[in-house]
Amino acid sequence: MADQDRLSDNSWPWWHGATFYQVYVRSWRDSNGDGTGDLAGIIDGLDYLESLGIDGIWLSPTMPSPNTDWGYDVSDYYGVHPDLGTTDDLERLVKEAAGHGISVLLDLVPNHTSSAHPWFVDALSGPSAEHRDWYVWAPPKAGNAPPNNWISATGAPAWTFDEASGQYYLHNFLPTQPDLNWWNPAVPAEFESVLRFWWDRGVAGFRIDVAHGLYKDRQLRDNPPATPDDPPEALRDGFRTVYNSHRPEVHEIYRRWRKIADGYEPGRVLLGETWEFDYERLGDYYGRDEAELHLCFNFPFVFSRFSARDIAGVVEATLAGLPAGATPTWTASNHDVGRFPSRWCGNDPRAVKAALLVMATLPGTMVLYYGDELGMTDVDIPRHLQLDEISLARPGVPGRDRCRTPMPWTGGKNGGFTAPSARPWLPLGEHSSLNVQAEHADPASVLNFWRRLGALRRSGQIGTLGHLETVLLDDQCWAYRAGETITVANLSPEPAEVKLRRGAGKILVSTSLGQEGIEAGGHLSLGPWQALVAAGAWPVP
Ligand code: NOJ
Repeated sequence: MADQDRLSDNSWPWWHGATFYQVYVRSWRDSNGDGTGDLAGIIDGLDYLESLGIDGIWLSPTMPSPNTDWGYDVSDYYGVHPDLGTTDDLERLVKEAAGHGISVLLDLVPNHTSSAHPWFVDALSGPSAEHRDWYVWAPPKAGNAPPNNWISATGAPAWTFDEASGQYYLHNFLPTQPDLNWWNPAVPAEFESVLRFWWDRGVAGFRIDVAHGLYKDRQLRDNPPATPDDPPEALRDGFRTVYNSHRPEVHEIYRRWRKIADGYEPGRVLLGETWEFDYERLGDYYGRDEAELHLCFNFPFVFSRFSARDIAGVVEATLAGLPAGATPTWTASNHDVGRFPSRWCGNDPRAVKAALLVMATLPGTMVLYYGDELGMTDVDIPRHLQLDEISLARPGVPGRDRCRTPMPWTGGKNGGFTAPSARPWLPLGEHSSLNVQAEHADPASVLNFWRRLGALRRSGQIGTLGHLETVLLDDQCWAYRAGETITVANLSPEPAEVKLRRGAGKILVSTSLGQEGIEAGGHLSLGPWQALVAAGAWPVP
């Protein structure tokens, strides 16, 4: 569908098949030289964002916070962190981004607040405090032991003892991030006002932090130990997190939120951080009989190995698990899991291009992490310069700061991210050639390759929702038909010979320069990590 038709076709929800771009605000662009990226910096960068062909940006937490978990410890759900700007800046960003065809999503953190939030400060004042029951409290077990075996993200017990009241409070992350008690009706009611507050100001939607986690087992039962079949990423320190998250009651919340979101014009979007490794249960978050979240992150895909058989297997299982009409979400990097150019591609730009091409041609919505479009890699930050408390609590685990480093705009001092004289909040990686300016000037760069993909997605030629048919799969290559195109990808460092049942049409884009417009025959020789998309709609046999 052409861009114009797509924009004027009201039956096409705007988020379906969209491309989102995650901006880690502190690291993207600093407008005032204090070493921290900010909202005004994003406004300065809107032309760049538009050049990527994206439809929306998701901003990492923007709300006031003591930053023990960099904004995922919110102390006011109705404000903007002064390091990042003001509510007026945010409203200006929303307005100006719209002028570039870009919607703005915020990050919502409903599972827990900051311990500095006035609700928790009040709750701590004693068992009869107004907000006491907004949090999860429980008496000690014998010997003053924590109420159960739940473990927090740091690897320590998920409970902190409050001497004054003789009770424990729950925190699935840091002790400074007390979990809210979603069984108390005042909590869901408050979050409905938070949604409306921002949506009334033109915010296009929310990425929902810990979307699977809001409700806890009412009886606070012990989590069971892992079984050999459990994917390691689904576990916490050898336990299945079935009682401190993944509770069925959360679905009713999303049914209500969905109705509120869809009541806006245009509809607002809910994108869940659904840490779910079972495809059917992932599908449940989209809603079965009644609609829930519009989009859900797909962590089995994020953690897949980047080989033809692994990726094809995860994609096909995803498509089979989601309810009919649900929009899959493809992403491979974020501020927690690291950058895919490092994790999947050994920092090889050829493999990075192949991965971008595969994600861009899969049917569904795609979420890029800032810097993915450059092939930006994880940065090895010495431990004494790391700032992420959660990963610092686990020696031996690669810190999350590695994937939160400032965006390199130029090859100069501080990479144009902040003033050359400023001290960036995290160090930049090596950026003498990997930066926006250099890649913009290089026709063979990852950036210019992404721009071609972004334009094809924006025009609806690739990435549209629908059937995906694998037409070839072996140890090196995966070829599939999606919509009106055929994608052929050699996901290996060795050259490959591919024989398709019949020729595809003209090449729309290839990881090798200069192939656009060439007919892709039934027999193709592919270089290492070479991938291409050709026009060609084969009837489903
Ligand atoms: C997931 C966020 O992405 C992560 O950065 C944060 O530490 C936890 N949720 C807790 O909010």
